[in-house]
Amino acid sequence: MDLLIRNVRLFTAAGPGPAAPGFVAIAGGRIAQLGGAPPHGLRAADEIDGQGGLLTPGLIDCHTHLVYAGDRAREFELRLQGASYEDIARAGGGIRQTVRLTREADEATLEAAATRRLRELMHHGVTTVEIKSGYGLSIEAELKCLRVARRLGERHAVNVRTTLLAAHALPPEFDGRPDDYVDAVVERILPEAVRLGLADAVDAFGETIGFTPQQTRRVFEAARARGLPVKLHAEQLSNQQGAALAAEFGALSADHLEHVDEAGVAAMARAGTVAVLLPGAYYFLRDRTPPPVELFRRHGVPMAVATDCNPGTSPTTHLPLMLNMACTLFRLTPVEALLGVTRHAAQALGLQATLGTIEVGKQADLCLWDVDDPAGLAYAIGASPLRRRFHHGREHAP
Ligand code: NIG
Ligand code: FE
Repeated sequence: MDLLIRNVRLFTAAGPGPAAPGFVAIAGGRIAQLGGAPPHGLRAADEIDGQGGLLTPGLIDCHTHLVYAGDRAREFELRLQGASYEDIARAGGGIRQTVRLTREADEATLEAAATRRLRELMHHGVTTVEIKSGYGLSIEAELKCLRVARRLGERHAVNVRTTLLAAHALPPEFDGRPDDYVDAVVERILPEAVRLGLADAVDAFGETIGFTPQQTRRVFEAARARGLPVKLHAEQLSNQQGAALAAEFGALSADHLEHVDEAGVAAMARAGTVAVLLPGAYYFLRDRTPPPVELFRRHGVPMAVATDCNPGTSPTTHLPLMLNMACTLFRLTPVEALLGVTRHAAQALGLQATLGTIEVGKQADLCLWDVDDPAGLAYAIGASPLRRRFHHGREHAP
């Protein structure tokens, strides 16, 4: 064995069970053995005494918009004075404001800004992050953002999955011609992103201020034709029947879902589509309609939790804080919340074969925390109880 981590309280995320005293042994970057007490004769090159801390899978942030320039503090002020998110978007602010700045920024500047956010995520226990494009909205700028995202994965001790979100908003040069922009997405941007290997999945913003179900369908068909899985920003501000559309395409996830109805939830259950809950955006927009957690439970739809890190609706890189918010605002149990950033987040990215749980054969991405159970992790508002973080079996300072 390369590494033995003993004397921990183990939360494997393989089942709903509570944390229990245990150990994990690692070889070749993978989990080789785990259990209650290490067997006599188990030898490892390195040994760590966990001193009774909680050991969990490395956290997975399965929904972020990490690559962008500037911020939207001014818009935050406007909303505090009474403007709505939709008002600001319709007046040419919102996503478009970030698009202007992101288009102007060169790749090195964008990478530096995204690196700062990535380091914060890692500091709070993230070992896998999904990064969407969607602030470029032209072929050059979308590819630029995806290249930055890929490079982050090469340069840092973290797994990166990229998602093409060209159908995030209508760029100004296509004003009044949304279908022409969708043509550009399906005929040029998406094929080029696929050809260059820059996208692992495809997403869209299905909303009155985003894209219609018919336009989203075209994007999904183009993704399917090229073998890429899809995801959808669905039912965030209104019910557009996006969850059912996502399910029809076997989507990995439908995200937000504050306004989903039971038919949409049932369709997700049949398709195995994960519900990604984003309490940071709900909180920041002072939304009043929480996602229907009880329906997800009743229909057996797995729930993931993510930061949605973006400048407009969820400027946060604190995934453990999202556990607290998911419990407080959405009434998830602490165990459900923790499964939401481990096993179910892996499923929302299609990575459940290798990540998301502590099981023999899985990649040894692990976090050791200064708390002793999932409730301790979800409890403190904005604390950072991470003690040690392992990626591929190697420790990297948190
Ligand atoms: O996930 N809803 C659309 N996209 C982002 C917000 C983007 C923005 O306002 O910049 C979200 O909430
Ligand atoms: Fe989002």
